[in-house]
Amino acid sequence: MTDTDMTGTDMTPALAPHAIGRDLARRDGAAKVRGTAFYADESPVENPVYCRIVASTIARGRAVSVDTGEAEGLDGVLAVLTPATAERLASTSDAELAVLQDDRVGFRGQIVGAVVAESFEVARDAAARVRVEYEVAAHDAALSADRDDLYTPDQVNPTYETDTAQGDMAAAMASAPVTLERTYTTPMLHNNPMEPHATTALWEPDRGAGALTLYDSTQGVHPVRSTVAAVLGLDEDQVRVVCPYVGGGFGSKGMPHANTVLAAMAARAVPGRPVRVALTRQQMFSLAGYRTPTIQQVQLAAQRDGALDGIAIDVVEQTSRIKEFAEQTGVPTRNMYAAPNRRTTHRLAALDVPVPSWMRAPGECPGMFGPEVALDELAAELGMDPVELRIRNEPDVDPETGKPFSTRNLVACLRRGAEQFGWPGRDPRPGVRLEGGWWIGTGVASATYPVYRMPVSTAVIGYSGGRYVARIGAADIGTGAWTVLPQIAADALGVPVQEVEVLIGDTEYPPASVAGGSSGTTTWGSALVAAAEQFRGKFGADPHEGDEIEASVPENAASERFAMHAYGAHFAEVAVHADTGEVRVPRLHGTFAAGRIVNPRLARSQLLGGMTMGLGMALMEDSVLDPRTGHVVNHDLAEYHVATNADVADLRADWVHEDDPHVNPMGSKGIGEIGIVGTAAAVANAAWHATGVRVRDLPLTLDKVLPPA
Ligand code: MOS
Repeated sequence: MTDTDMTGTDMTPALAPHAIGRDLARRDGAAKVRGTAFYADESPVENPVYCRIVASTIARGRAVSVDTGEAEGLDGVLAVLTPATAERLASTSDAELAVLQDDRVGFRGQIVGAVVAESFEVARDAAARVRVEYEVAAHDAALSADRDDLYTPDQVNPTYETDTAQGDMAAAMASAPVTLERTYTTPMLHNNPMEPHATTALWEPDRGAGALTLYDSTQGVHPVRSTVAAVLGLDEDQVRVVCPYVGGGFGSKGMPHANTVLAAMAARAVPGRPVRVALTRQQMFSLAGYRTPTIQQVQLAAQRDGALDGIAIDVVEQTSRIKEFAEQTGVPTRNMYAAPNRRTTHRLAALDVPVPSWMRAPGECPGMFGPEVALDELAAELGMDPVELRIRNEPDVDPETGKPFSTRNLVACLRRGAEQFGWPGRDPRPGVRLEGGWWIGTGVASATYPVYRMPVSTAVIGYSGGRYVARIGAADIGTGAWTVLPQIAADALGVPVQEVEVLIGDTEYPPASVAGGSSGTTTWGSALVAAAEQFRGKFGADPHEGDEIEASVPENAASERFAMHAYGAHFAEVAVHADTGEVRVPRLHGTFAAGRIVNPRLARSQLLGGMTMGLGMALMEDSVLDPRTGHVVNHDLAEYHVATNADVADLRADWVHEDDPHVNPMGSKGIGEIGIVGTAAAVANAAWHATGVRVRDLPLTLDKVLPPA
């Protein structure tokens, strides 16, 4: 009855689905449409005050004097925080969170002061009147692959080996009949959730437990609590974090950033008054994480029939000098295709730039771009269909570890996706379809994302008033957790879903892991199933008012025996205007294999959302950091373009049926991130097919794709 059962792969997942698999509408939908669902900056507090950040205008040096006289003279200003006056934090080991602890500046846009005032307008006015004098030091904000100070991080996110090697890649490149060696790049990218990073913080020193309340826009209330408590030197029970709704995070709200710590500090400067801190859109480009730019050198060695002898990716990317984040860009190449010889490496440049972090599918998303375009180039060289080339390199077992896959249906995704998209019969020649002044082409790329289960999460299930009420500090960041967790709990309890409520988003509930790594449903769902089984075991089918039980996510022994990943196949049609080079994507199709789909309506929304974000990555998203200033010059949505309605045309996602008895009792795999993974490569490959121009550097702006005159 558990997912650790050894009886083989023909069993089906443990839960008999009744609610699972149904197209239930979002439980929080009506509240969101009616505007009664509150977000962090509008949390219901009495008499709030407002905090505004003063950000550094240099990339490196010292803020030697911060003159607050004029700001403090304004009516309504309650406090001005500077490196000299701000409270001393208990822990400064995380330099990103050591807000105002000394006068050093490590990147442009860093917090060098903050104003708390009775109104937002006064806070903004006062912040502009804080005079900062800098001692400027030479900074370095230019990433390149030939820097002589590139270094090897100890591991890459979250805990992968930095470098791997199997067989002899150099020998494969020397002996294979067909080889290919190319450099691909992806730019700095910013998450840009619609809801800015925001916190409403209240410090009530006379309360013991819950003295600090944070209404924080976050992907995990418990991780925020433990981090903020440690930084401030508080006991965890002195901190309550509340977050029922999030207007998107994409990883940028996965770990607390400086704004959350600042909110707590500002609240402690004005005890008893709730303080609202919301980053401006511009501040989100320096204070809320981003995806590092990547430079990927990809090597493929192949036989004439397409079988790979070797595959390698050597990645150069950046981190901040003040804090390391090493994106795992090479990791998907370790187990995507069969090849006896393989190598993956990561090298970092530590620059005077904002701290990079998680952005939707860190690792897989940038790391599938180079290899998936390289495969398209190899297919063209071999005269082979790019779908067939991928199928030819399908491994029987995980090529890195030798473990069997719990389920792996990449081939099914490629075949079904090709069918749905209308791939069969495609003319392989590039630059031959000119229709009404547009070059038309189609392209394919694969996607993958691992099945993560977090080690910590606990659920309580109680019986009250004829209903089952579960509590777990999980997060719904727009993904649908409010809706799918009751579906899982209902099936585990064997009752109609209407009889089950699952409360999330508050540290008053039992601890839950971050909504990250597409792990939420697996982790929290497994905790709920464990609690439901124990509830039934203890109280039977006819419980009494007040019966309650608590259970934690069990370890999954199967994850030692099996490689567990979701897969997908992306297909794109691209139109490139023959005169202007304008690139449009009339059609995007994704077919995924992600285990059992808990709620098709919400799953499709996640997959389409990922693909839409991938479309933005393909065509327009590009954070332009001027190395002369260390400043992202297009730091707003007027100039950092994301894909919106007019960019999205015929966008479709579907999936193949997959029974995976090993991943978890639901048989589900994560779906929040895989939708973005192969999109950009599929679009780039389609643009080549349309024009014959191979673009290896994202985004695919018109200057790059315009066919030579
Ligand atoms: Mo996701 S980038 O793991 O929050």
